[in-house]
Amino acid sequence: MATKTKHTEGILGKDQTDKREHIVEMLTKAYWMEIETVMSYIANSVNPDGVRAQEIIESLDQDIQEELGHAQQFAARIKELYGVVPGSLDFTAEQSYLQPPEHQTDIVHVIKGVIEAETGAIEHYNRIIKDTDDADPVTQDMVIAILRDEEGHRRLFEGYLREYEAEGLA
Ligand SMILES: [Fe+2]
Repeated sequence: MATKTKHTEGILGKDQTDKREHIVEMLTKAYWMEIETVMSYIANSVNPDGVRAQEIIESLDQDIQEELGHAQQFAARIKELYGVVPGSLDFTAEQSYLQPPEHQTDIVHVIKGVIEAETGAIEHYNRIIKDTDDADPVTQDMVIAILRDEEGHRRLFEGYLREYEAEGLA
């Protein structure tokens, strides 16, 4: 019976075109979020001044490679799902909260900006995990692993913020 072969190709099946395009759209947004995070973390791992800035600088510096790796994973998955990774002209910046502060010793501004960026990623990746449930386990699996990185990073920066708050600096 011909109908029996209908769902055997999963998300790559011809009958899954709409779902696949929706997933590619979400992956494209995720790709841009990671790319913008790389830009923001490069700037914020260089700009801050002062003794207190060093831990934040080192932490963000390490995270740049991780976020770049996320962007590459999202790009690869876009292609696997028959999408096309967009060119730079399609990019629109959104991270207003991660622009350089007025004073480069304002570390709290950077910490809060990182927490907001990670929160945005966590929300979007949870959405992808929900929308790929049953339909695309490979994308879901990949995004679960990336989500863990973002959760860990947000937790780290929440700890930094708590320390500043305890000292009455935030
Ligand atoms: Fe990331």
